[in-house]
Amino acid sequence: MTKPSDWHLETRLIRAGRSDNEAALAPVLWTSTTFVTPTVEEGRAMATSSRSRRFYTRYGNPTVNQFEDAIAELEGAECARAFASGMGAISAVLLGLCSSGDHVVAQKQLYAGTQLLLQSAAPRFGIDVTFVDATVPGAFAEAVIPGKTVVVFAETPANPRLALADLSELGAIAGPITVVDSTFATPLGQTPLDYGVDLVVHSATKAIAGHNDATLGVVAGSQELIDWLWQFAVLQGANAAPFDAMNGLRGLRTLGVRYRRQTESAIEIAQQLVDVEGVSDVIHPGLDSHPQRALVKKQMNLTGGLLTFELAGGLPAGERLVSSTEIAQLATSLGGPETLITHPASTTHVGLTPEEMIDAGITEGTIRLSVGLEDPVDIMEDLVQGLSSTS
Ligand SMILES: Cc1ncc(COP(=O)(O)O)c(C=O)c1O
Repeated sequence: MTKPSDWHLETRLIRAGRSDNEAALAPVLWTSTTFVTPTVEEGRAMATSSRSRRFYTRYGNPTVNQFEDAIAELEGAECARAFASGMGAISAVLLGLCSSGDHVVAQKQLYAGTQLLLQSAAPRFGIDVTFVDATVPGAFAEAVIPGKTVVVFAETPANPRLALADLSELGAIAGPITVVDSTFATPLGQTPLDYGVDLVVHSATKAIAGHNDATLGVVAGSQELIDWLWQFAVLQGANAAPFDAMNGLRGLRTLGVRYRRQTESAIEIAQQLVDVEGVSDVIHPGLDSHPQRALVKKQMNLTGGLLTFELAGGLPAGERLVSSTEIAQLATSLGGPETLITHPASTTHVGLTPEEMIDAGITEGTIRLSVGLEDPVDIMEDLVQGLSSTS
């Protein structure tokens, strides 16, 4: 008999986060905002210790803690803290770890919300940020200012062109705290902490919860770092709602089959899109044509359901395509059961200047597709029909 600690990730996903469940098989929802304190001494201990589980829900909550435990187990971390959204987690990491006068190195290929936080909010708090190209070997380490750089922040694969940052390079950086937003990969795609990275962040709103019905974020790492973050997080107040954490736990049970299916469908669709007229530059980490394919093979186990491509017809073609597909629905998110199509130039990246758009690798004709769980044959037919309206 294999021991639970020897089980493969896809077996552990099914059971993770059940230690507080008594006999219940499904995740248990604890809605209470507060918990009866048995004695004054225990109340004192809970009010002053980190991550108390049954004191006050902003500090900790049994359902939320179970979700945190599950993510920590799957990422190979000592512990985790869940947040009200991915941005709640990212802002806690940056504002909880950095003070005025500190320096951050971040990549320029980022989710637009993270980029705006670093570009607009961080300077107001006296935090300097240097943006680097994650695809250039050594770029992160070169931008580190010894004694001043507190955080190195990467997102891999990154919005929206699925560029990779090298996890081994990040893990080898000594001094600053290295953070990887691993939302697109999920724990099934990669486990950054295995490479020496300090903290892994997810928008669990996406594939982890997986059904477009939970807004949820999480950070996992060493107990020391999570305890430190926890102290900021209870004051920041962006704690995860128990209902969303329960949906996160539910989502984890099917993450294995969902993420595998989405990866296979995305590769199948990407391979066919390459031959469609008016489409160019089809990018998916599972294609041999991905510019960093060797790195993909080195650090990713599964490559996920996201793909991007370029439309020769630019802005009008993009707007026509996203208005004419039926299975691929125009909505801003990813990783759920429904195939979603976005046109960054008219939606997610609309706030960027033309120079910033070029920097982020977006053109007016860039399309991002989050492949869902529908039959890939139907998704492809839908795209071909939609693309016929763009020429
Ligand atoms: C890579 C990545 N990180 C973080 C976020 C923010 O997550 P949330 O919407 O849960 O705040 C997103 C949202 O799309 C994302 O794509």
